[in-house]
Amino acid sequence: MSIELKTETLATDKAGLEKASAILHNGGLVALPTETVYGLGGDACNGQAVAKIFEAKGRPSFNPLIAHVADLEMAQKFGAFSEDALRLAATFWPGPLTLVVPLQKNSDLSHLTSAGLNTIGLRVPAHPIASSLLRVFGKPIAAPSANLSGHISATSAEHVLADLNGRIHAIVDAGPCEVGVESTIIGFDPEPTLLRPGGLPVEVIEACIGRTLLTHIPGAAPTAPGQLSSHYAPNAIMRLNAKSVREDEILLGFGPVDGATLNLSPSADMVEAAANLFDYMHQLDGQANTIAVSPIPNTGLGLAINDRLTRAAAPR
Ligand code: TXA
Ligand code: MG
Repeated sequence: MSIELKTETLATDKAGLEKASAILHNGGLVALPTETVYGLGGDACNGQAVAKIFEAKGRPSFNPLIAHVADLEMAQKFGAFSEDALRLAATFWPGPLTLVVPLQKNSDLSHLTSAGLNTIGLRVPAHPIASSLLRVFGKPIAAPSANLSGHISATSAEHVLADLNGRIHAIVDAGPCEVGVESTIIGFDPEPTLLRPGGLPVEVIEACIGRTLLTHIPGAAPTAPGQLSSHYAPNAIMRLNAKSVREDEILLGFGPVDGATLNLSPSADMVEAAANLFDYMHQLDGQANTIAVSPIPNTGLGLAINDRLTRAAAPR
């Protein structure tokens, strides 16, 4: 995978944040400081920008990303908050706490941000620069930790650049992160559940809601992110590497193929295909018993696309 960008280091002043915001509006990637670790940010409503986040990280699979928002009001445009979720948000935001809540129905968040799930991880970071950037940008920023896949999270601009120089458009350098570990993640399904321990201690969360958190038991499923058993699975049977379409099938195309009901990318552009993947799977599901899928090369983002398709095609 060849990504060759000139990564600009931006200051934390007004001009720097306006530049960062403009890059995000144009679908570019900006590493930003948060109080926990640096995030690799892109416009959470722009599928191609989110696809580029996965490309820059070199991840071989799609896992749901945290959507960072300026405040609870912005969060509620994208997620539905139960009483417990509201209490936690009111008490600990801004701060190192991510709440995984049901996705609002008609939000314009990209399906790739939530990896096709009907829940969304939301967080209001406490770092003043993250906060200012979110206000200037005015929309949610999807951001995993700003490290290459398999590497440890970055807590300084130097760490970020060691991994991502030439792979992102810019970094806002605000020095080292205060907390240094990722946010604590709480889900509600519907009981409050600890999905990942992190910067906010479990005890204070339990004290706030007045009960013990369940702990996430992934069951037989592998615990690696992106392999969550809750991942969206279509009802239709998926037949991969289809070079032709049978009578009872519809085709999810890739590249210059004929007869596709939807085509992930007619020009075989991986970023475009990744941006469309979850949306198109949702759209085609229910239209036929079997969805045939054109072959997709296992290079670059193709690895993550094929990983997702393979799991969707696995017998259940
Ligand atoms: O402190 C943090 O949380 C940092 C900073 C940048 O905010 N971000 C971070 O993101 O650690 P990441 O992508 O490295 O880890 C996010 C985790 C992933 O393991 C993902 O599976 C989980 O959050 N996650 C996000 N949305 C989810 C959802 N809807 N359901 C279940 N898990 C979710
Ligand atoms: Mg990470």
